[in-house]
Order: sequence, then structure tokens, then C-alpha cells
Amino acid sequence: MKVLVTGGTGYIGSHTVVELLNLGHDVVIVDNLYNSQLDVLDKILKISNSKDLKFYEADCKDYEKLDEIFKLEKFDSIIHFAGYKAVGESVLKPLMYYDNNLNTTITLARLAEKYQIKNFIFSSSATVYGEQQSPLNENLELKTTSNPYGETKKMSERILSDFSKNNKDMHITLLRYFNPIGAHESGLIGEKPQGTPNNLMPYVTQVAKGIREKLFVFGNDYDTVDGTGVRDYIHVVDLAKGHIAALLNAHKGLNFYNLGSGIGTSVLELIQTFEKVNEIKVPFEIVDRRPGDLATVYADASKAKKELRWETKKTLEDMVKDSWFFEKNL
Ligand code: NAD
Ligand code: WQD
Repeated sequence: MKVLVTGGTGYIGSHTVVELLNLGHDVVIVDNLYNSQLDVLDKILKISNSKDLKFYEADCKDYEKLDEIFKLEKFDSIIHFAGYKAVGESVLKPLMYYDNNLNTTITLARLAEKYQIKNFIFSSSATVYGEQQSPLNENLELKTTSNPYGETKKMSERILSDFSKNNKDMHITLLRYFNPIGAHESGLIGEKPQGTPNNLMPYVTQVAKGIREKLFVFGNDYDTVDGTGVRDYIHVVDLAKGHIAALLNAHKGLNFYNLGSGIGTSVLELIQTFEKVNEIKVPFEIVDRRPGDLATVYADASKAKKELRWETKKTLEDMVKDSWFFEKNL
């Protein structure tokens, strides 16, 4: 199968490209390198022991440029990762987020229609559920999110849902990721945030490495096991494999799936597991809650298990081990 992977040099995209290459698929990456670097390509090739990986540096909002690529490459499938993802930044720069995250999706949908591409997989997020009782299942009505980033995911889902009504033969799959962490076990690819990390795991690894003095734990007065926030962490390699399962088992029309483990882990549990597995201390201080944070978010992961025949395999121990191995290698 020939697969276009937009955002393929990014964190989740690069791991997904490795899995696609491992299975012998032809992969073409389009990325504008806004949040990733070219050296990822060599690393992907090394891990997957392949020779063939095409890369175009292009903006996925650029219809004309992408049209040329589509004409030339004749894709069977699209996995659309390209987008901006920093929640806090989206509050400060909402127009930049709406422009990039919506116009990339619209451009790709237009081209998918023009070239009659069979599969379209979109990176959505658990954030689309807003504030609701976990476990979150796919039948829940979507609620308002607390930030423009979350709204771009909800709007993209709506756009693709309307689009699918006029493209009934297409397989459009919306994947709602929970909290991806971890890295490839080779330590060659992983998450490399620019500046101060917004997310928990990269902050933890930077504290362990001595780049930052301590972790700030945002609140210990939630109604959870130990008062700290509970999330559903998923190893990025399991997540990448979820995309393969979605490609191979996609149905006609619009389908959406949670990609999570179904297990809730608190911030303190994650820190303790990190310290134990990696035998390294992570100094932390409890501070005020972060505005917009929810107490508990985890998936009901049964729909993907039943329909995509996919479930997570890796443990929290694997996640903290691989995250640390990647950080040490940087
Ligand atoms: P990432 O920033 O590592 O990767 C995104 C890639 O897209 C980057 O390489 C960036 O350069 C590229 N890109 C951005 N705008 C582009 C444009 N206009 N044209 C071409 N390339 C562009 O992010 P990630 O963590 O790999 O996330 C991938 C997708 O998954 C995003 O859509 C994100 O919103 C979604 N998602 C991520 C998470 C998470 O926690 N990482 C959770 C849920 C959903
Ligand atoms: C996890 C837990 C924090 C940092 C975000 C987006 C979501 C999705 C994934 C894209 C929470 C706590 C964090 C820190 C802390 N992305 N924390 N100190 O907020 O669940 O989800 O990333 O779609 O849309 O909102 O992930 O890693 O930021 O936080 O105590 O320095 O860690 O309060 O309980 P979150 P996170």
C-alpha cells in the first residue's frame, strides 16, 4: 500500500512510519519541519532497515504543491498527523491554530476526494470529550473543550464527518489518542519538545537529566487516588500500531475510535514508576492546579479492540524506561 504520512517526521508520525516500513508499505512523508528535524529520516531508515522513504518538505495547507505530489505519487491511503499541538500556545495564538489545523485537514480532504483515495486517517484527541466522567466511550456526545487546540480537533472531526457523507465509499477513520508517551526502544526517535515542555513525561525526563531542577506537580487536591491528576498513558509504539490496525481494518464511511490503554495513572504513580524502573530520583514540588486540567481522563478502549483488533501491549514500566533511554541519548 502506498501511504502519505503528513507530519511524518514528528513524534507520533515517525513511529508510525517505522511500523509501516516494517510491514513493507511504501511511505511518502510530507512535513514542513515546523516542529521536527530532517535527521529523523535517517533514524527511521536505520530502525526499520529500509532504503525507501520519500520525503517532501511542504506545507499541507498549500493545495497547489500538494496537488503536484498527489498527481505524481498516486496514494492509496493518507494518515494525517500534521498540525500544531501545544494547548497553552493555542490560547495565545488561536488564529494560528485554527488556520493550520483546519486548513491542512481541508486541503487534504479536497485532494483525497479529487484523487479518490480509499483511506483517510485523522489524528484526533481525547480532548474532544471535554469534561465528562471516565471511562470515556465513543458514544458520548462531544463537549466544549477548554482551549482552541481542542476546538480545532472537534471542528476537524465535524468537517470530516460532513465530508464523508458525500464520499460514502471512502474509509474515514478518526483516532482519538489519550496521552502518548515513551519512545522507540532503539532510543533513536522520540519526543523532543522545543523550549520548556508542556507535557508531563518530557518534563520528568528533563528533570531526571538535570536540565531542570524539579517537576511542578499541578495540584494534589483532586478527587483521585492520591489527589493528583489521572491520565491514560499509551506507549507511542502501541499508538503507531493502532494506525496500522486502523488502515487494515477500516470500514466504509466515518468511524471513530479511542486509542488508549483503558488504565488510569496518577502523576505521583508515574513519578514513582519512573524512579523505580530507572533508578533515578525526580525531585518535585506540589503547586496549584493548572487551569483547564481535568481530574481524571481515561479511555474505554473496547471498541478499537473489537473492531480494529488492536489493544495496547506495553506497560507503564516500558513507557518510562523508553522515555528515559531516549532522553539520555539526546
Ligand atoms: P509533532 O509536533 O511531533 O508532529 C507534527 C508534525 O506536523 C511536525 O513534524 C510538524 O513539523 C508538522 N506540521 C505541522 N504543521 C504542518 C503543516 N502545515 N504542514 C506540514 N507539516 C506540518 O506532534 P505529534 O505529537 O506527533 O502529534 C501528531 C498529531 O497527533 C497532531 O495532529 C496532534 O495534534 C495529534 N495528537 C497528539 C497528541 C500528543 O499528546 N502528542 C495527543 C492527541 C493528538
Ligand atoms: C498530564 C498530567 C497534569 C505537566 C495534553 C493535552 C491533550 C493531549 C495530550 C493533544 C496532568 C500533570 C503535567 C507538569 C504536572 N494532546 N502535569 N506537571 O494535559 O492530560 O493532555 O496532552 O491532543 O489534548 O491537553 O497532558 O502531559 O500535560 O498532563 O503535574 O509539568 O500531568 O496536571 O494531570 P494532558 P499533560
